[in-house]
Amino acid sequence: VPRDVAVLVGSLRKESFTRKIALAIAELAPPALRLELVEIRALPLYDQDEDGATAPAPWTAFRERIRRADAVLFVTPEYNRSVPGALKNAIDVGSRPYGHSAWSGKPGAVVSVSPGALGAFGANHHRRQSLVFLDVPAMPQPEAYVGGVASLLDPAGKLVNEGTREFLRKFAEAFAGWIEANARR
Ligand code: FNR
Repeated sequence: VPRDVAVLVGSLRKESFTRKIALAIAELAPPALRLELVEIRALPLYDQDEDGATAPAPWTAFRERIRRADAVLFVTPEYNRSVPGALKNAIDVGSRPYGHSAWSGKPGAVVSVSPGALGAFGANHHRRQSLVFLDVPAMPQPEAYVGGVASLLDPAGKLVNEGTREFLRKFAEAFAGWIEANARR
């Protein structure tokens, strides 16, 4: 049975480079993994007053989806040297109610994506900061900072750069190994 990997994409826009990279990774991943994009757009902003028995249905569905997953992959752009608010919100929603975090113990990995040269390094490491607290063992190597992304994709969103394709294939393979080494079930 392949490992179920929940993929969270930090951008909400239709033509997102980040989403295209996430879909490319899903295609390149080895058969040991089944990657599925989990949408975060419909999650209301986290509000502790709304949590508990009457939590909004999208929060509950999201938490259940993450609990089912064997692992989590974050593919994120960088907004102001951090992750977009939508992705931070998803992390916060999944982390509650207190003591019932959906993230606990799931092996994870981070891919950051930017049209710029720095490959969204700041977003990548801000994401890792939360993962330490959430007890998500995040794969240390290989690191994945995808810079200059606009020239790596064709208009249909397919990867046209062979080096990037090979890099992401190796990344996904390493992640499969990381999941087996760190899975609690
Ligand atoms: C950006 N962008 C950006 N890029 C970057 O490399 N570092 C940054 O700190 C920022 N900051 C930033 C803030 C905000 C509010 C926006 C809207 C954009 C540019 C960003 O990388 C670019 O818009 C990407 O195309 C966003 O990713 P998607 O939507 O293509 O996946």
